[in-house]
Amino acid sequence: MGFIGKRISESVMSIDRIPRTYLALIFLLLGIGSWQQLHAQGASVALTPPMGWNSWNHFNHNIDDKTVRAQADAMVSSGMRDAGYTYINIDDTWEGERDAQGYIQSNSKFPDMKALADYVHSKGLKLGIYSSPGDKTCAGYEGSLGHEKQDAETYARWGIDYLKYDLCGLRTEMKRAPTPEAAHQMMIDAYVKMRDALRATGRPIVYSLCEYGEGSVWKWGTDVGGNLWRTTGDITDRYSRMAEIGFAQAGLARFAGPGHWNDPDMLEVGNGGMNAEEYRTHMSLWAILAAPLLAGNDLTTMTPETIALLTNREVIAVDQDKLGKQGDRASEEGPIEIWVRPLADGSKAVGVFNRLDTPLSATVDFRQLGFDGAVQVRDIWQGKDLGAMMGPYTVTVQPHGVVLLRVK
Ligand code: GLA
Repeated sequence: MGFIGKRISESVMSIDRIPRTYLALIFLLLGIGSWQQLHAQGASVALTPPMGWNSWNHFNHNIDDKTVRAQADAMVSSGMRDAGYTYINIDDTWEGERDAQGYIQSNSKFPDMKALADYVHSKGLKLGIYSSPGDKTCAGYEGSLGHEKQDAETYARWGIDYLKYDLCGLRTEMKRAPTPEAAHQMMIDAYVKMRDALRATGRPIVYSLCEYGEGSVWKWGTDVGGNLWRTTGDITDRYSRMAEIGFAQAGLARFAGPGHWNDPDMLEVGNGGMNAEEYRTHMSLWAILAAPLLAGNDLTTMTPETIALLTNREVIAVDQDKLGKQGDRASEEGPIEIWVRPLADGSKAVGVFNRLDTPLSATVDFRQLGFDGAVQVRDIWQGKDLGAMMGPYTVTVQPHGVVLLRVK
């Protein structure tokens, strides 16, 4: 655990030792807000971008208890857990009927959600779930509309640690609003409602907003309690779509930081639609973007190459850097783009991307990236120190590829 994370969890633990009545009084006097809000604040979650796995990209509707357990097992045996991956997230299609009191139940694919959460926790991992603020989810299953409080309580009772809350069904309601402003407000209110319901449970639950970047969510995502928010429509396992999404993130850096991240969607690494070079670009760009790293492949059938791509410690270190500053595009020269991310130790991650499908030579001028004099350069994917450099660095970048540097 990082220094900040440790300090926060230590202070939460010491708060736990003080009787609640005294605490409520102290907070009342200090005007800090309710005890429950502070406790479940999300202040201690997502201090770095969440890492884990999500069922949607690979399994889509074909997800069940057995498959989720197998993914948790594989996350451990592949070394992904030890590399930092934590959340096992069930996406859409787990939802069953509501009982007579209105409480949601899982469907027959997930006979016992609490037991599944216990299993995932026993592996040192966390469990995530999915719902919609509308009456139906994107896949047409039961949404949370009108049952937000009950659903949050149910998630907490099951031991859920992460909620992806996907606009979908609410769009039908929003269309009935008299003005676009009223429709927008309806969306804000819906996200606030679930935020408050989650906080009231007292359980720290990562709150992931999914509304495809509509209404510039990066401007208000933090205010409605979002720990992360999707900035785009859905990714697919093709270079063109991944690049379209990834390179369109320019300009969003200032909206991200510890506890609240831009989310350009889940990873496609290992799903087979891109080559290794393209997946390296995917990982590198997501790391520079301080994006959540949610693997979207079948973890039980990974090749050593896929495992190496997903668990490269130096790439993950860039993504999880404690400074929490998202990187941005520094220059664009035709198909060559240079993206830079400042890191906590004063160094910078520099991604030199070639968006063309032929190899290209690119030159990095470190002075233009804010460096003075000699710099120490390391090629991350090659795992090789390139030594001290005085002048610009010229390198060949593979088709759709990247050269990812750490520069000091
Ligand atoms: C939307 C989301 C996806 C996925 C599906 C599930 O399309 O953007 O990430 O959750 O819904 O139905």
